[in-house]
Amino acid sequence: MSDHEQLARDLHEEIKAAGDEATLEAVRVSALGKKGRISQLMKSLGSMDPEQRKIMGPALNGLKNDIQAAISERQKALYAAALDARLQTEKLDVTLPLPPSAQQMGRIHPVSQVMDEIAAIFGDMGLSIAEGPDIEDDFHNFTALNIPAEHPARQMHDTFYFNEREDGSRLVLRTHTSPVQIRTMMSGPPPHRIVAPGRTYRCDSDQTHTPMFHQIEGLVIDKETHIGHLKWVLEEFCKAFFEVDSVKMRFRPSHFPFTEPSFEMDIGCARLGNEIRIGEGEDWLEILGCGMVHPSVLRNVDIDPDVYQGFAFGMGIDRLAMLKYGIPDLRAFFEADLRWLRHYGFVPLDIPTLHGGLSR
Ligand code: DAH
Repeated sequence: MSDHEQLARDLHEEIKAAGDEATLEAVRVSALGKKGRISQLMKSLGSMDPEQRKIMGPALNGLKNDIQAAISERQKALYAAALDARLQTEKLDVTLPLPPSAQQMGRIHPVSQVMDEIAAIFGDMGLSIAEGPDIEDDFHNFTALNIPAEHPARQMHDTFYFNEREDGSRLVLRTHTSPVQIRTMMSGPPPHRIVAPGRTYRCDSDQTHTPMFHQIEGLVIDKETHIGHLKWVLEEFCKAFFEVDSVKMRFRPSHFPFTEPSFEMDIGCARLGNEIRIGEGEDWLEILGCGMVHPSVLRNVDIDPDVYQGFAFGMGIDRLAMLKYGIPDLRAFFEADLRWLRHYGFVPLDIPTLHGGLSR
């Protein structure tokens, strides 16, 4: 048997015996690598006489192609076997319950919980959720809401302004959720029935104020919407939210540029030491601002105030969360302290619904 026939046999044996991809690679290098056995034989072609080279040239080339093919064939088989072995061991049982640790550790922040509760209550009354951007322009945050430049209400809002743009205008971080009223009314013809929860910003920080806080806005516009509807909606909301059968409430005349008449709503409460009991008692607690949407606001969004009217309200979510869940300090809401979150947070997947109970 000639050298190259013997080599072919040996290599086929070695390829067959290679049990994994690394061993096979070693065989490949030892045969076809720069100093490999086939490469060496190829080099010897140069020193052969022409007759011999005519025979050996094609023979060695054939050997090389044959071994290359055998290696890649074996490679495919090894890869398939390795994949099979992994599939045998790495099984995933999708019917397994969540590992208890994930459920035990995660908590929903009280602000998120309260937003979900509020959305569930107003959703049940037929209001849908609307959204607007945190970065607003002057028109939506102020002008369209009947707060023209130089209006004293602008100072009261402690606005965070962005740098001036080329045209001299400045964007703002929205100071309230009321601009979502404007965006809603400009998005299509009435009727409108929405609530808009979200983040709001004012340059203000002390024990009861944080630069970022949360509000929820309500807006209902239709042909015959009146103050009676406003009072009913807010009374039902308070009863559902505080989970009590009745609430004492009063409307005090107030002023907001975007409503006429305007009110602030207080609910009755009793202060018993550190605890505040909602719904009864001799004390009052202010919880929101509201009123009938000002005709000028309707005109600003091309709604005819002689045909349509409606009400709006806005309230602070953080304070509602503090009241309902007895949380004493507002600033702790935003400190991301895990111990605090474990204490005041809510178990995930326990989504508040009216039928299931809001706060269980
Ligand atoms: N935007 C007001 C604020 O931030 C709250 C408010 C008052 C909203 C009366 C309203 C409203 O929609 O009717 O203080």
